Amino acid sequence: MNRKKQLSELRSQRWYGAKDMRSTGHRSRTLQMGFAPEAYTGKPVIAIINTWSDINSCHTHFKQRVEEVKRGVWQAGAFPLEMPAISLAEVFQKPTTMMYRNFLAMETEELLRSYPADGCVLMGGCDKTTPALIMGATSMNLPTIFMPAGPMLRGNWRGVQLGSGTDVWKYWAELRAGNITEQDWSEIEAGIARSPGVCMTMGTAATMTALAETLGLTLPGASSIPAVDSNHSRMAEQSGRRIVDMVWEDLKPRDLLTAQAFKNAMVVLMAMGGSTNAIIHLVAMAGRAGIPIKLEDFDEISKHTPFVANVRPSGKYLMEDFYYAGGIRALLDVLRSKLDLNCVTANGKTLGENIAGAKIYNDDVIHTLDNPVQAAGGIVVLRGNLAPDGAVIKQTAADPKLLQHKGKAVVFEDYNDMAARIDRDDLEVDADSVLILRNAGPLGGPGMPEWGQLPIPKKLLKLGVRDMVRISDARMSGTSYGVCVLHVAPESFVGGPLALVKSGDVIELDVPNRKLNMLVSEDEIARRRAAWKAPARKFERGYGAIFSKHIKQANEGCDFDFLEGTAPTAEPEIH
Ligand code: FES
Repeated sequence: MNRKKQLSELRSQRWYGAKDMRSTGHRSRTLQMGFAPEAYTGKPVIAIINTWSDINSCHTHFKQRVEEVKRGVWQAGAFPLEMPAISLAEVFQKPTTMMYRNFLAMETEELLRSYPADGCVLMGGCDKTTPALIMGATSMNLPTIFMPAGPMLRGNWRGVQLGSGTDVWKYWAELRAGNITEQDWSEIEAGIARSPGVCMTMGTAATMTALAETLGLTLPGASSIPAVDSNHSRMAEQSGRRIVDMVWEDLKPRDLLTAQAFKNAMVVLMAMGGSTNAIIHLVAMAGRAGIPIKLEDFDEISKHTPFVANVRPSGKYLMEDFYYAGGIRALLDVLRSKLDLNCVTANGKTLGENIAGAKIYNDDVIHTLDNPVQAAGGIVVLRGNLAPDGAVIKQTAADPKLLQHKGKAVVFEDYNDMAARIDRDDLEVDADSVLILRNAGPLGGPGMPEWGQLPIPKKLLKLGVRDMVRISDARMSGTSYGVCVLHVAPESFVGGPLALVKSGDVIELDVPNRKLNMLVSEDEIARRRAAWKAPARKFERGYGAIFSKHIKQANEGCDFDFLEGTAPTAEPEIH
């Protein structure tokens, strides 16, 4: 170990090491918790930020894992303190966990700032928990290691493998079309989530934990291990051991989160066919490290990065298969020529050293650059008079026939309007129509709920239609699929052009040429803009009022304006 820090330099010593009345209070209250002086005296304090909660089905195993992390911390001669933080349970929290990503980021930063932490283990995985924890820890910039929750086991229904989210959307459409029964549906409901762990498709959770590993914030291979595999327990213990060395080495997030590391993450995102949500999160995470990322950076990397991870929703398999096929280390090895292998990671070694000897054990799950699933990466950035500040589409999970398309708009004012009308027989819609949902962005949703995969109207489902062009300022679950244009910026709630579209306008989507336009004259658009009235504010008080005042647009990462950047977090006075 390259030991750079002395005991006297640890920030926890300000709490424990002084000979004054306040330090007596810190020591006596630690004794009150039942710890003998030998447990904590002269040792680094490791904060374990745990996003376990009874309501988060993806993190139920964290109650046990946190004990394994602590075991590792004790083994390495440090003092572990578990600090629970808001859990962000993706399927339960309304209107959307995205509204609370920055809340958890702030909580993480403030827990680390206000308590005697020398380093931290972040325990997360369910969608927004990963970026939130990393954003907060990056701002605090204490030595940090991320312990991913790991994917749940494959779903099962009568021997058919079910994928989280992806197969819910698929079979829900079949139920609405009358092709499966209510009995079938309740069996699917019982078989699709069979164990602790995060969604086992390449949704936002699997994407973001893989990107955390690519960025160097986990131990090698950590992000691919299924949640219930005993390797996962051992990884938790190892992470606990390693963070102690990271404290003595003074290896901090901003030492790892370089521009090259973020470029590597963008390459991996495209090669995995990862979630569109990752674009928003990576922009925000990079912002905390002082690294500007533009939407066009993603698009450029997408053009030159083949899609090689054959995992749903863009591919065929599930994350459990991905692990058995070699996992993220094998994927990184495939991408060697496109990555900066000199980036340093949490174990103090380079990315290149960490993937030495990695192998593919099933080349139908992890393809090679010579034999990709698709020649170009998953996510494309669009611009045009409908999205002057950009929009995104996951082309690998869309019907290729619709990627160049002109059709008449069918506009829904908001989610409730859409829910009320989408299945009505008198809805004027056909297979060529373009469904538009507005007021679903950062302020309009609020929080950009995952409404971007608008349902196919029932009357078209019955005719066999399974994909259509859909456009919104919402996000979409990483487990979703379809020709869904998302993150339109600026959003309609603040007067972005999406607010000005009328049903019947012709919309042109041209993914190969990166265009998204409404074919309406400039004069007419100007007339509509002059007549547009801003909607009423959503919140008068509470966190919602803070959110509304400070949230940034999708292309800027949806961070709060006062949390961006690298200004140092003020250390607390200790009196
Ligand atoms: Fe937790 Fe999907 S619901 S990761």
